[in-house]
Amino acid sequence: MTIAEPQTAIDALLATRLRNAQPALWTNPALQAQRAAALPALGRTISLDDTRAAAARLARFADLLAQVFPELAATGGVVESPLLPATALQPVLGMAEGQGRLFIKADHSLPVAGSIKARGGMHEVLEFAEGLALQHGLVQPGGDYRALATTQAREVLGRYQVAVGSTGNLGMSIGVVASALGFQATVHMSADAKEWKKDRLRQRGVLVVEHTGDYERAVAAGRAEAASNPMCHFVDDEQSFSLLLGYSAAALHLQKQLAEQGVAVDAEHPLIVYLPCGVGGAPAGITFGLRQVLGPHVHCFFAEPVQSPCFMVQMMAGPGAHPSVYDWGLSNRTEADGLAVPRASLLAAELMRPLLSGVFTVADDTLFTHLVRVLDALGERIEPSAAAGFSGPALLTGTTAGQAWLRSTGIDAVLHQATHLVWTTGGLLVPKAQYQGFVQRGRAVLAAQG
Ligand SMILES: Cc1ncc(COP(=O)(O)O)c(C=O)c1O
Repeated sequence: MTIAEPQTAIDALLATRLRNAQPALWTNPALQAQRAAALPALGRTISLDDTRAAAARLARFADLLAQVFPELAATGGVVESPLLPATALQPVLGMAEGQGRLFIKADHSLPVAGSIKARGGMHEVLEFAEGLALQHGLVQPGGDYRALATTQAREVLGRYQVAVGSTGNLGMSIGVVASALGFQATVHMSADAKEWKKDRLRQRGVLVVEHTGDYERAVAAGRAEAASNPMCHFVDDEQSFSLLLGYSAAALHLQKQLAEQGVAVDAEHPLIVYLPCGVGGAPAGITFGLRQVLGPHVHCFFAEPVQSPCFMVQMMAGPGAHPSVYDWGLSNRTEADGLAVPRASLLAAELMRPLLSGVFTVADDTLFTHLVRVLDALGERIEPSAAAGFSGPALLTGTTAGQAWLRSTGIDAVLHQATHLVWTTGGLLVPKAQYQGFVQRGRAVLAAQG
């Protein structure tokens, strides 16, 4: 395909950086400040009511989840992560005094799935299970969903299959939850998926199909196989509303956490959120939820590896196009396995057009240095994909494009009162040996930088 010619000098510079796999920042000229009650996406509209319905579904299943997953007993089946102050990190991230306060939303510690994929993946499997349970009379509306843990209910659900294509973490979420409820579970893994993730799924009785191609091919293979089986529900990471709305439920919880910590969000106190992005479903769901719940003073940026900026190229190309990172001469090779996606979700892209503030890219070496800094300053263990957001604050304050955005939004005048929120999206389940390898690489990069 041909790539649209850049319109301005800034666009030309950005295009050159993108093509050369250098860190870059794109800001969204189509951003709309006003709140729309409902937003169009793939021929349907979604609103805050849909996010509330997803949160209510997760709540209906909480007792059952607490019973099925011992690690959820303490929270009564609620799958949520803390909001952690991270001021200790600010100096090493290059944030000067007076540039606001840093927090992390610690989805790297989300139980059961160990990543941001927990909420969305769980929500879609539960929605499928709920439909079947009502249809087969296994539960009554408003009844006790713990009935689904009985042998008889599991036998009914066991006639059905749940399948998904994944770079790893979505597969972990879907596979673990589906098999815990008694479904047959199949996960189609892309070549990027880590061995330990496949092993963990196999131990839980999940069928893992290994593909030699990228994420897009794994999804396509899963979709094709599922289409031939009427008893199979395919979780379509590229266009699923159920996944996206499950992710969006995080916004309702974050709203409470911000209030508890006394963090205001208004024109004088903007909230800038940095979210790692693969195909776009998880960060788009969260951005949708945050903009609906907290309004226009939330500014969301997606973070992608320099070799896999699928969302950036999609947003630059605009509606009607569907470019891949290969079209830009990029390899889609990155240690951030969760973000190794060549082409963005069109559902996520359409929804984000009026809501997303921008997208930036990060070099792999930088991901490892962030990972080490997060360990040293906060004692938190994150995986490389989860580190992508940490480049955000310095990109906004220290680059021409970032400073232009701060001026154009008026945030430069209130930056000292801003809250920066980096979403750390995975890490809990990474085996010790793998994690040590990440830390070594990060320390080696830092040593080489002097
Ligand atoms: C750790 C981690 N962070 C972020 C993402 C991005 O989510 P999405 O692919 O929905 O954009 C993923 C996706 O698998 C992930 O594994």
